[in-house]
Amino acid sequence: MKAILCREFGPPSNLIYEEVPRPVPGPGQVLVKVAACSINFPDTLILRGRYQFKPEFPFSPGSNIAGQIIEVGDKVNHLKPGDEIIAIMIAGGLAEYAVVDVHMCVPKPASMDMETGAAFLYTYSTSFYALQSRAQLKAGETVLILGASGGVGMSSIEIAKALGATVIAAASSDKKLGLCSNAGADHLINYEKEDLKERAKALTEGRGVDVVLDPVGGKYAQLALRAISWEGRYLVVGFAAGEIPKIPLNLVLLKSCQLVGVFLGAFSMHFPKERNILMKELLDLYEQGKFKPYIHKTFSLEEAPQALQMMENREAAGKLVIKVS
Ligand SMILES: NC(=O)c1ccc[n+]([C@@H]2O[C@H](COP(=O)([O-])OP(=O)(O)OC[C@H]3O[C@@H](n4cnc5c(N)ncnc54)[C@H](OP(=O)(O)O)[C@@H]3O)[C@@H](O)[C@H]2O)c1
Repeated sequence: MKAILCREFGPPSNLIYEEVPRPVPGPGQVLVKVAACSINFPDTLILRGRYQFKPEFPFSPGSNIAGQIIEVGDKVNHLKPGDEIIAIMIAGGLAEYAVVDVHMCVPKPASMDMETGAAFLYTYSTSFYALQSRAQLKAGETVLILGASGGVGMSSIEIAKALGATVIAAASSDKKLGLCSNAGADHLINYEKEDLKERAKALTEGRGVDVVLDPVGGKYAQLALRAISWEGRYLVVGFAAGEIPKIPLNLVLLKSCQLVGVFLGAFSMHFPKERNILMKELLDLYEQGKFKPYIHKTFSLEEAPQALQMMENREAAGKLVIKVS
């Protein structure tokens, strides 16, 4: 089979498009013919050896696939060849066939095409876990979303709207903010040109935002925390800006607010039943027509390194999807 391979940590340009043997599913695993795989920020970290998990070399990056099961390993009872699934994995998606642990597979709704499946599961489940489970976002509350035109950002806009919240989207360009508006954001802040804290305060009549969802970190984090309301919740989702912010804890005391960690991978590993409930609720909302994942650009498998480079360059918006077969 053809695959994109990482043989040593480095930039996307080091990746090789190669013929490799088809993998074999072990106990509790399925072999999937990959139809599509999206690019997610953690893929760029794995390539450079900067992610929590480091796969053995050589490996294919790619963490959200959609495809059809063609073979099942021992001890697989509820999935069979022919089933169409979407799945999250640590790596392995940028290949014609991928082996996936069965507990990471979710049946693909019939109404969802393969590219949407690849674009959907990772970011939407992260945002849903963050906003619904971790922040317990309520209808009528206001959410400030940083990096709002990114994968996690745009899915957070749609999820916050589905939960009945008012959304303030913050991003680095007016073009990116236009996409946030299309996704349903109520208010927009260009955090490269405007004062993030002052604008968020003004938009909430001085009260501050109930929830901040932060997949970016860096210089924006402290400004966003300063814009939070009394007893607000600050969701720590990621550090796309590269810098892990150091927060003065007096800000947390002064607002009686909560800093809330969000780690979907560990939650899924340690709480599989709760994760399945969360996925079912999320897919039900999809089937009710609440979400329209925005696919910014599609690529062939051979072009996948360009897509990874685009994400590293901060040029991606919504999702980048690789059409594998
Ligand atoms: N905690 C979890 O369970 C979990 C799960 C999935 C992803 N994540 C994390 O969530 C973050 C976002 O992931 P994603 O897939 O949504 O990424 P993405 O699509 O690339 O979005 C990230 C956004 O961050 C902003 N950004 C600011 N500085 C940047 C820089 N130097 N390079 C790149 N982007 C920069 C960009 O928006 P502007 O240009 O508008 O600033 C960009 O749209 C990542 O840190 C990822 O690791 C966490």
